[in-house]
Amino acid sequence: MNERHDTGSSAAMVEVRAVSKVYSLGKQSVMALDAVSLTVGRGEFMALAGPSGSGKSTLLNLIGCIDTPTSGSILIAGQDIGGRTPDELSDLRLNTLGFVFQTFNLLPVLSAWENVEYPLLQKAGMSKETRDERVRHYLGVVGLEHYTHHRPNELSGGQRQRVAIARALATRPSIVLADEPTANLDHKTGAGILNLMKSLNQEEGTTFIFSTHDPRVMEMASRLVRLADGQIIGQGM
Ligand SMILES: Nc1ncnc2c1ncn2[C@@H]1O[C@H](COP(=O)(O)OP(=O)(O)OP(=O)(O)O)[C@@H](O)[C@H]1O
Ligand SMILES: [Mg+2]
Repeated sequence: MNERHDTGSSAAMVEVRAVSKVYSLGKQSVMALDAVSLTVGRGEFMALAGPSGSGKSTLLNLIGCIDTPTSGSILIAGQDIGGRTPDELSDLRLNTLGFVFQTFNLLPVLSAWENVEYPLLQKAGMSKETRDERVRHYLGVVGLEHYTHHRPNELSGGQRQRVAIARALATRPSIVLADEPTANLDHKTGAGILNLMKSLNQEEGTTFIFSTHDPRVMEMASRLVRLADGQIIGQGM
C-alpha cells in the first residue's frame, strides 16, 4: 500500500498547509486552528508552545491522523493524508507515527512488556523473535529492562512515561508526536524523559514534535513554534 512512508526523499517530514479546524458545540463553534501552515524537517526536535486552548493538541492530533482538518491539507513524508481510507490511515499510524500522551495511555491490565508489544502484534508478518527483540531493545533503551513484568500501577509516573515512549518507538516510526509528555512528571523526571527523547532524536534520527508549557523543556528544542488563538505567532531558535 503506502510503500513510500519511510522512504520519502523530500526533506520535509510534515507539511501543514493552511489548516483550519473548527469544532462545533451545539450552536457555538470554536476555531481551534486558523489557517496554520508549518513545515517540519526530517530529524527536527520541535516544541509547540502556547497558552491553554491555543490549539497545540488539536494540531498534534491532526498531524497524527487522529482527527481531520476542516480545511487545508497535511502531508506526511510527502504524502497527502487527506482522502486516505481508514485502512491507509491506520497503516500510517502503525508504521510512520508514534504517540506519547500526557496521561501515558497505557493499558492497565498489561505489563510493561505487553504494553510495548501491543502495537507490534498488529504488524502482519512480524515474527515472534523480531517482536521480542524489539520489545527487549526499547525497554532497555528507556532503562526499564528490570521492570518488564510490572503493570502500570506498579510503576512510577516517570517509569510509565518511559514505557509509553518505548511503545511509541518500538514500531520504528519516522515521527514521534508527544502531547505534553512531561506535564505529569516532576522536573527531574521530566528532564530525564526529555534527555531520552533528545538522544533518540540524535541517534536514530527520529523526528519529534512535542507540546509543552515548561520553559525549560522549550529550551531543549531545536525549534520552538508558538501558538495563540489557533494561529502561529512566532517561530524560531
Ligand atoms: N473535541 C472538541 N470539541 C470542541 N472543542 C474542542 C475540542 N477539542 C478542543 N476544542 C477547543 O479547541 C481549542 C483548542 O484546544 P486544544 O486542546 O488544541 O488546546 P491546547 O493548546 O492543547 O490546550 P492545553 O494547553 O490546555 O492542552 C480550545 O478552545 C478547545 O476548547
Ligand atoms: Mg493540549
